[in-house]
Amino acid sequence: MGKALMVTATDTGVGKTVVAGGLAVGFRRMGLQTGVFKPAESGVVGEPLDALFLKMCSNTPRSLEEVVPYTLREPLAPAVAAEREGVGIDLVLIGGRFRKWIEAYPITLVEGAGGLLVPLTGSFTYADLARWLDLPLLIVSRPSLGTINHTLLTVRVARAMGLRVLGVVISGYPEEPGVAEETNPAVIERMGHVKVLALIPYIPGLSTEKGELGDLEVYPWEELAAEVWERLKSKWVEE
Ligand SMILES: Nc1ncnc2c1ncn2[C@@H]1O[C@H](COP(=O)(O)OP(=O)(O)O)[C@@H](O)[C@H]1O
Ligand SMILES: [Mg+2]
Repeated sequence: MGKALMVTATDTGVGKTVVAGGLAVGFRRMGLQTGVFKPAESGVVGEPLDALFLKMCSNTPRSLEEVVPYTLREPLAPAVAAEREGVGIDLVLIGGRFRKWIEAYPITLVEGAGGLLVPLTGSFTYADLARWLDLPLLIVSRPSLGTINHTLLTVRVARAMGLRVLGVVISGYPEEPGVAEETNPAVIERMGHVKVLALIPYIPGLSTEKGELGDLEVYPWEELAAEVWERLKSKWVEE
């Protein structure tokens, strides 16, 4: 059975898809075929763009439907979008699809939606999903002012629910950081007792909405992938 983790974030639009896609590139470079799974994608008009991006980065021959079993029209929390659309999200189906990935791939990346307490169905959140599927978390955070609070809230809720936090990844780190951007990572590490595993720079030409990789492949994703892999393999890592 392969390993798996959930890529969550402090909010929607922070960089989950970018980091999950980048990690898929990194694991591929390490020689690990990577499964990509997004239980539900909302705000889908036409193609599910997150799922497409993940599929493109991982090179998996599996279908888009296997990457994303539920696509929902309105850009809302999946539980709300599904209810308004009259769609029933079946957790047993999601669990079964997840199993199909981890049975075949050494590493599977599960992308959440929004942040940890977003409901997937009813009042079952992505944190509940992570606990149910036994997924440790990688938390994607913004570099800017506000991120200390959002990141620490996420770390604390995760731990209160018994989830393991592999680390934090900051996405879109500016070339010329201001004082907040410069000081945030150390504060997050000290107060969150968590490691900031990478500061991913702002990558030119990259757009998950346009399905464009831009300079994504220029970044040394294998370094982050190797670090994440080490943490996944060992239960006890010094923070
Ligand atoms: N490191 C980065 N460099 C350039 N653009 C980024 C970066 N991280 C995120 N983005 C952009 O920010 C937007 C939101 O990122 P995305 O990964 O789709 O967020 P999420 O999956 O958390 O909703 C997208 O337009 C994406 O291309
Ligand atoms: Mg996304």
